[in-house]
Amino acid sequence: MPEDTKPVFPKNFLWGGSTSSHQVEGGNYNQWTVWEQKNAEHLAKNAESLLNWRWNSPVWPEIKKQAMSPDNYISGRGVEHYSKYKQDFDLLKSLNLNTLRFSIEWSRIEPEEGKWNQSEVEHYRRYIAELKKRDIEPVLNVWHWTVPVWFDQKGGFKYRKNLKYFNRFVHLIAKEFAKDLKYVITLNEPNVYASYSHQLGLWPPQEKNPLSMARVYWNLTKAHKSAYYLLKHENHRLQVGVASQLANIQSKNPHDLFGEMSTKVMRYFWNWWFLNRIKREQDFVGVNYYFTDYYNGWFKHSNPKVPLNDLGWYMEPEGLYPLLLRAWAHYKKPIIVTENGVADMHDEYRRWWLEETIVSMRRAMSQGVVIKGYFYWSLLDNFEWSQGWWPKFGLIEVDRKNGMKRRVRESSKWLAERIEKLSP
Ligand code: BGC
Repeated sequence: MPEDTKPVFPKNFLWGGSTSSHQVEGGNYNQWTVWEQKNAEHLAKNAESLLNWRWNSPVWPEIKKQAMSPDNYISGRGVEHYSKYKQDFDLLKSLNLNTLRFSIEWSRIEPEEGKWNQSEVEHYRRYIAELKKRDIEPVLNVWHWTVPVWFDQKGGFKYRKNLKYFNRFVHLIAKEFAKDLKYVITLNEPNVYASYSHQLGLWPPQEKNPLSMARVYWNLTKAHKSAYYLLKHENHRLQVGVASQLANIQSKNPHDLFGEMSTKVMRYFWNWWFLNRIKREQDFVGVNYYFTDYYNGWFKHSNPKVPLNDLGWYMEPEGLYPLLLRAWAHYKKPIIVTENGVADMHDEYRRWWLEETIVSMRRAMSQGVVIKGYFYWSLLDNFEWSQGWWPKFGLIEVDRKNGMKRRVRESSKWLAERIEKLSP
C-alpha cells in the first residue's frame, strides 16, 4: 500500500461538512437580513472596486454580472436547507462523511424578546434526530454571527448587560439539546466578527470604532465562558470549544526584524488573545484555517500573487501544518479543524486543497498533535455574507435557479474515496 494512503486516521475521526443557519436555511429574519435589504444596492455598486481592483478576483469577468446585481446580496430563500435537510444529510452520508457542523438560528428560537418559539425548537430536535438516524454526529454551533433584531437593537454584544440575553438562549439550548450531543461549538470566529462588524465597518452594524471592537471581543470571551459552564452543567461529558479563525502568520523574510515583530504581534492578537482568555473553558481547540499571511516589515502584507481562489485569497493549504503545531504547543488540547475550504466555482483547486490539507494533518499527527476531526467548509454552496451568492465553497453545488438542485462536485467524490482509504 503506498505510504500516503495508509490508514492513519483513527476509526472515530470526524470527517465532516459544515454549514451555518443564515447561510443555508432560507426564510430567516435577523439583524443580517435587515442589513441586506438596506445595503444590497450599495454592495452591488461597490463590487467592481472591491473584487476586481482591490482583491483581484481571478473570476471577475465571469461573476461580474451577478456581483453587480443587488439580488446577489439577499439571502432570501437560502438554499432551502431548512426544508431539504434530509436530502442534504443523505448526500453528506454518500460522501463518506460522518459528521455535520451546523448552527442554531437564535432569531427563530426567540424572534421576540423572551418569547420562545417551541415549534422551532422542535425543528432542530428533528434535525438532530435525523442526523443521528443516519449515524452522522451532530456538532452544534450556538452562534454563527446572526442575532435577533431585538437583540441587535439593544446594542448586541457591545454591552455587557446584554450578555444575560445570550446566556438565557444558551441555557435553553443546553436544556433542550446538550444531553443528545457530544460536541458543541459556542461561538464562530469572534475575532472576525468583532473586527469586520465593529472595526472595519464592513458588516452589520458597520461600526468603525476600535473601542467597540475591543468591547465586543472582550464580551465574547465572557459569553463563551458562561456558555461553557451552562452546557457542561447539563452534560458534563460534552466537549465544548470555539471555532477560531487562526491564520498561519509568517515573516516574509526570517532575517527581517520588523517582519518578525509584526508576525509576533499579529499571531498574538489575531490567533491567541481570545484562546488565552478561555484556556480553562475549552475541551478542544477549534481551528478554522483559510489564510497564510506573510509580513514584510511593519504590518505590510506581501503574499504571493498566485494561486488565488475566486475571492482573490492567496491559497497555501499546507500552511495548516505549522499552524497545527503551534496551536498544539500553546494549548495541549485536542484540535478539531472546524472549518477549511476554498471558493472555487470551477472545482479547479478544491481537490488539490483537500489533498494538501490531509497531508498537513497527517504530518502534524505523526508529530504527536492530537486531531479529532476535520470539517470542510462548506457542505453546500451558500450565502457568503457580504459577498452574497456568487462564491462557491460547496462540496455540493446548488443550482438556485433550477429548483435548488444539488449536484456533488468531482472533488468531493475524490474526497469520499480518500476518506474510505484513510479509515481503518
Ligand atoms: C466563516 C463562514 C464563511 C467562510 C468563508 C468563515 O470565516 O465562518 O461563515 O462562509 O469563512 O468566508
